[in-house]
Amino acid sequence: MSVLKLENVNKHYGNKHALIDFDYEFHDGIYGLLGPNGAGKSTMMNIITQNIFSDKGSQILWNGESIYKLDSKYRSQIGFMPQQQELYASFTAARFVGYLATLKGIDGKKIKSEVERVLSLVELSDVSNKKLGGFSGGMKQRVLIAQALLGDPKLLILDEPTAGLDPKQRVITRNLISNLAEDKIVIISTHIVSDIETIADEILLIKSGELIDSGSVSALIEKVSSDEKNLETLYMQYYGEQ
Ligand SMILES: Nc1ncnc2c1ncn2[C@@H]1O[C@H](COP(=O)(O)OP(=O)(O)OP(=O)(O)O)[C@@H](O)[C@H]1O
Ligand SMILES: [Mg+2]
Repeated sequence: MSVLKLENVNKHYGNKHALIDFDYEFHDGIYGLLGPNGAGKSTMMNIITQNIFSDKGSQILWNGESIYKLDSKYRSQIGFMPQQQELYASFTAARFVGYLATLKGIDGKKIKSEVERVLSLVELSDVSNKKLGGFSGGMKQRVLIAQALLGDPKLLILDEPTAGLDPKQRVITRNLISNLAEDKIVIISTHIVSDIETIADEILLIKSGELIDSGSVSALIEKVSSDEKNLETLYMQYYGEQ
């Protein structure tokens, strides 16, 4: 069981205050980070994965210890799928994931079996030796999810894993993520309600850098003031004027 705790996390890009006094505690389970373009979802994910620094005074604790003190001990437990990643078209799926496994510091002797394991989890074993250039959008997204699963991370961060997918591929990807989530903290960002409403244990609603609400889907939809109570109407209640 892991705990990731954010305390008073802030981020400025110059004068832009992109993340404001963010407090939250994550436990094993699936968390959906919901908010429109520019809300601060990627900023938060990039801070949690140590790709960017938060402002001074921000605290991020992994099982009670500062992630900056833990450093590589913390990073080795993270799997990250960044937003908008390019794939090498001439690489096969196995070679691409193997290359990232090397970068991640996975023991050379274990790379082949680990690559096979993660490609099997995303149901790409049969095309592992095919070049990425010929893959559909959904297959590419699954390759990117596979690389995030290398080393069986305890913290899995997926920044818009369903971006650009057709409805069928969205469902496949959503089911895949929900099956992978055991014994992990999984954080998924999206601005599409249906991507997370059936799989997330908790949803965080972010607006202009602030956490404006959070809770289970059932608890959140009780806050809808109109008769039609669902996450979509709650989304419109919070973000409709934007
Ligand atoms: N490197 C940067 N320099 C300056 N401003 C930035 C930078 N990165 C993000 N921002 C700004 O910070 C705010 C939050 O951006 P962020 O990318 O975190 O939002 P997001 O919720 O991930 O949006 P999207 O749904 O479009 O991916 C936006 O106003 C954005 O313009
Ligand atoms: Mg983003």
